[in-house]
Amino acid sequence: MTPELSTAAAAFCKQLGIRYPVIGGAMYPCSNPELTAAVSAAGGIGILQPISLTYVHGHEYRAGIRLMRSLTDKPVGMNALIEKSSKKYQQRMSEWIDIALEEGIRFFVTSLGKPDWVAARVHAAGGLVYHDVTELKWARIGLDCGVDGLICVNNRAGGHAGPKSMQQLYEELNTLGAPLVCAGGVGGREEFQQALDTGYVACQLGTRFIASTECRASAAYKQAVIDAKDTDIVLSERITGIPVSVINTDFIKRSGTRMGAFSRWMLAGKKTRHWMRLFYGLKSIWQLKHSSLDEKGEKDYWQAGKSVAAINSIESCATIMQDLLANKG
Ligand SMILES: Cc1cc2nc3c(=O)[nH]c(=O)nc-3n(C[C@H](O)[C@H](O)[C@H](O)COP(=O)(O)O)c2cc1C
Repeated sequence: MTPELSTAAAAFCKQLGIRYPVIGGAMYPCSNPELTAAVSAAGGIGILQPISLTYVHGHEYRAGIRLMRSLTDKPVGMNALIEKSSKKYQQRMSEWIDIALEEGIRFFVTSLGKPDWVAARVHAAGGLVYHDVTELKWARIGLDCGVDGLICVNNRAGGHAGPKSMQQLYEELNTLGAPLVCAGGVGGREEFQQALDTGYVACQLGTRFIASTECRASAAYKQAVIDAKDTDIVLSERITGIPVSVINTDFIKRSGTRMGAFSRWMLAGKKTRHWMRLFYGLKSIWQLKHSSLDEKGEKDYWQAGKSVAAINSIESCATIMQDLLANKG
């Protein structure tokens, strides 16, 4: 397979030192090191999610990176959620970035917040930072902070989806002059091609890689991804306090998708907001971990994007990659 890519997509691959313009997006709690390494080994770049690596999959952070390195000699990336929360979290994230750099990681995906300090540190080491954005305002902040490219999270994405379509977001951001990566709604070859034809230099996929042999998510979760149609994906505020795309399982139907009045009141108050966010943060970390690994699937908080529509089987990351690029050979 020798895909013919657009000049921009080929330049992106060259910049990152990878073969195909595919990013295996960070996924809390679904990013286990074997999955991240498998996406890289298949020619894309897997992005490690530090809380998933340590808290969900039980690896000491540096040892987890070394495990990935033992599975592939291809580049892997790191996801840095840099939202201003507790001092302790910020300190931990800062140390995780330094360790990643020490271990040779040179590609970083930042989400939320102002990534200026990450860009400064990563650029000093010769690396690249791409920033997750959902609209122009965040894109401008990211570029002012010195990031090298933008990951455009659209309204079909798994995780925290944005409000705009793949096309709308491209039109809104393409005048900024930065390389744009499409995140959301890409489950197979057709959408992948559509994103590249639109002008995106690459795609970041999350949900497709949950239904892979290398992902450690429960069989029940993978089957739900395969069974779901895009109309089965709903936004729930009840997990993190911010809308998250989830499969509309019986559990979600029973518990509802709207935040309660008390939570809403707490999040609206200047003094109470911090505590509510902390509560949501800890609760969601625990809940998502347990429901993604639980084979019984009783508490099924299963995050997934509308790309489920094109996902019909569990495959290895290598096969998923070949399928995405099949019409480019
Ligand atoms: C289960 C799940 C967990 C996710 N967790 C994170 C995360 O921790 N950090 C992040 O930046 N993005 C996260 N995302 C977003 C993905 O990295 C990626 O942008 C998104 O999945 C793309 O949309 P798709 O699912 O339609 O492919 C998550 C997505 C999913 C499906």
